[in-house]
Amino acid sequence: MPTSDIGLEKTLAALGVTEAAQVVARFAEVRAQFDGQFQTVHDESEWKIFRDAWLGRKSGVLTLVTDNWLKPAMPELKRVVGQQLNELRAHVESQIEARRLAVESGAEEAALTRDRIDLSLPGVLRPIGSHHLIRQVFQKIEDIFFSIGFSVVEGPEIETPYYNFEALNIPEFHPVRDDMDTFYLELPKGATTPLLLRTHTSPMQIRTMEKQKPPVRVIVPGKVYRRDNPDATHSFAFHQIEGLAVDTDITFCDFTGTIEYFVKQFFGPSVKTRFRPSYFPFTEPSVEFDVSCPFCAGTGTAASGGTCSKCKGAAWIELFGAGMVDPAVYGHVNYDAKKVSGFAFGIGIDRLAMLKYGIDDIQVFFQNDVRFLRQFP
Ligand code: FA5
Repeated sequence: MPTSDIGLEKTLAALGVTEAAQVVARFAEVRAQFDGQFQTVHDESEWKIFRDAWLGRKSGVLTLVTDNWLKPAMPELKRVVGQQLNELRAHVESQIEARRLAVESGAEEAALTRDRIDLSLPGVLRPIGSHHLIRQVFQKIEDIFFSIGFSVVEGPEIETPYYNFEALNIPEFHPVRDDMDTFYLELPKGATTPLLLRTHTSPMQIRTMEKQKPPVRVIVPGKVYRRDNPDATHSFAFHQIEGLAVDTDITFCDFTGTIEYFVKQFFGPSVKTRFRPSYFPFTEPSVEFDVSCPFCAGTGTAASGGTCSKCKGAAWIELFGAGMVDPAVYGHVNYDAKKVSGFAFGIGIDRLAMLKYGIDDIQVFFQNDVRFLRQFP
């Protein structure tokens, strides 16, 4: 910011100033330069340069005027130079301060304009999803069992054959393994234990009893896998809830009462339950629980008069397998089979959901078609 041609480097005498009127004229020139430069200052960085050029202690214009014009002034001019300098200083300082305020508020205004939020604009609408029907069914079942003192545990989907089979009384060449063929993980050479995707949630019976002494009352929701070809009722990945209760005095009556309570809570008080003998290597006796068909009220006849398409006229629908824990299983977890007894059950969640909501193809649970999912908000 140059201040040229006004002789600031020289004394007044060197400039040929000998009268008061010349002094006043010189100061008027300086002030005119100041006012001219003042117009060019618009932002903070320009303002700083401007301030230093005029008020800088070492070589600002006012310092030069003081050092070169006032100090060496002839005695008869000293008073008028002092007066003029004071007026100039007052003008310069007040204007520079005023410009600082203007620059600051200008910057603020610019920032406000830049960052202004238009509250009248509609917000970004993010569609809110809902729980998948399978998760909703899990939740319902968990709530029912919570209400009678069960708690939830979860376990690994990748299992060892020991937990998935052997500890559940299913030795290597047991025929049940044919129904539970599964996927095995490719392991690095030299790995000693094969790893597989669990075929049911029952391995968590073992893991729970290994960790916990009786009384045990748990349910285990989770995903399971089998090498089953997909069709309307089979998927290679599906869901189960395991239940396990073990204590010193659990009877078959506790078992059937618990299941009946669950089924009535889940399907409604009017459904009936029954059990039939069945077989699982890890329960003895084993049963299959049936529920009276909720679609035809257990009559086998549809409202239209024909055969009920859901139970095929049988009036009953198979629900899930269960039984009293086989004493052989207690041997694997260091429980004393003479002192404890208990029951276990394993519910296929996908088929249970199909039954409750009248869905006739299990595959819809895995296709993520929103037209299906939206029906279960
Ligand atoms: C078992 O998995 C036993 N672990 C259940 C059990 C637990 C019995 C505790 C006794 C005590 P099962 O193989 O029957 O049993 O399977 C249980 C349920 O899983 C079936 O009733 C069915 O609802 C479901 N299920 C089986 N295979 C499939 C499949 N491929 N796709 C969908 N659901 C299936």
